[in-house]
Amino acid sequence: MAQYSLEICYLIASIAFIIGLKFLGHPESARRGNLIAAAGMFIAVIATIFLYKSPEGKPLGNYVWIFGGIIIGTIIGTLMAKKVQMTAMPQMVSLFNGVGAACVALISVVEFSHYNNAHTGGSLFNGLTLTIILGTIIGCVSFSGSIIAWGKLEGKIKDIYLPANQLINIILLLAIVGISGYIMSLHTANVNMLLIICGVSLIYGILFVFPIGGADMPVVISLLNSFTGVAAACGGFLYNNQAMLTGGILVGSSGTILTILMCKAMNRSLTNVIIGAFSNPKAKKADGSAEQKVVKEISVSDCAVLMSYSKKVIIVPGYGLAVAQAQHACHELEKVLEEKGVEVLYAIHPVAGRMPGHMNVLLAEADVPYPKLLEMDEINPEFSTTDVALVIGANDVVNPAAKKDESSPIYGMPILDVENAKNIIINKRSMNAGYAGIDNDLFYDDKTKMLFGDAKSVLQKLVAEVKAN
Ligand code: TAP
Repeated sequence: MAQYSLEICYLIASIAFIIGLKFLGHPESARRGNLIAAAGMFIAVIATIFLYKSPEGKPLGNYVWIFGGIIIGTIIGTLMAKKVQMTAMPQMVSLFNGVGAACVALISVVEFSHYNNAHTGGSLFNGLTLTIILGTIIGCVSFSGSIIAWGKLEGKIKDIYLPANQLINIILLLAIVGISGYIMSLHTANVNMLLIICGVSLIYGILFVFPIGGADMPVVISLLNSFTGVAAACGGFLYNNQAMLTGGILVGSSGTILTILMCKAMNRSLTNVIIGAFSNPKAKKADGSAEQKVVKEISVSDCAVLMSYSKKVIIVPGYGLAVAQAQHACHELEKVLEEKGVEVLYAIHPVAGRMPGHMNVLLAEADVPYPKLLEMDEINPEFSTTDVALVIGANDVVNPAAKKDESSPIYGMPILDVENAKNIIINKRSMNAGYAGIDNDLFYDDKTKMLFGDAKSVLQKLVAEVKAN
């Protein structure tokens, strides 16, 4: 009876994961999706703790350990989630992803050591051993890779380019495959050999992420996320646990789709990202020549007049808008301009900010209507009929070098065609480079004027000036 109840709970949990994921597809329903998936996970965990029975009919036991872990994890997770800034979300995703991956790797190692007791002799060349080995390898690679990715996004770890990095990685991979084959050829579970695989996989994960830098980090995080999903699915096979299997497959497949979409948004192949141009230490970076070129400035009041008498204004939000938490002031500006009869639209670049959908989430938080947020393909033709393109804290996503300069690390990345607007206003605090660390010729364009200052305070002043006009 308990077994049937458990299976039903797993079925409910699996359905909740699928519905949750579907709801995550739109910013309006994303919160609900998250809650539904979390409820599914809650059901799966509680059902496992209270309904699981071993083949000998024994309950799970170890309740003090289990609930101790759950309480400590819940406190840490809740505090971190409450404290984290929107702009630091990728780091947190990476850290949580790493912890999940480590969990799968540990499960695999522990289950392998139980293997000898259950194993009735004969070769270990079977699906179960393969699942354990895969769970260990993928879990370890994803764990160490995610921790390095976290450190890089936190600015604690620099990009490191070892000589012959690719060659070392290939040797490590061959070693992993070789030792795995050896383990499977044995007749008893050799835990020490599996621990060696753990060590080599951990090193592989570190070296895999070390040289990847610049704007490629989110792609890597998404890739590692999908690795963890696959590792969790291995755990699902291992325990014949449908909820774990479904959850793992969903994370694995959605992570893979997200990875592909992000590569497409940057117009690069996954191989190119991993070996990549952004990671090329010789790639052209901001060279300080910015000071010699001349930029034109505009005052807040002149900018307010220009926009108030425009027919159409396109706002281009970027990472700086998120850092300054200027989304509400931005929405306020949009409203006061519309009251003056100006048409206001937003240009959303797929990798603006620091995570997929960053700008959509940010502007949704400020109640900007969704129909005003236009994706790159829709908004690009609009620039030529636009009086003012107001770029707020965005840099790489409006850099024409992506179209013109083959030596640029962002060459080939589709960008917003702001240079087609009649007037371009750029708000940022200084002439500093953006995420890719490169200079931006748009700032020196004849049509461009710089509106220096923190995005939030500049937008608040603009709102006041537009109102006064
Ligand atoms: P960036 O190129 O990073 O430029 C942001 C600009 O905002 C900087 O030049 C900075 O200049 C300015 N800024 C910072 N704080 C500000 C503030 N308080 N007020 C006003 N301006 C401020 O941003 P982007 O154009 O959004 O491009 C995103 C980049 O990040 C791309 O290279 C992308 O590939 C990468 N990336 C994207 C993702 C995803 S998936 N969205 C994830 C990771 C990385 P000042 O310092 O002079 O103010």
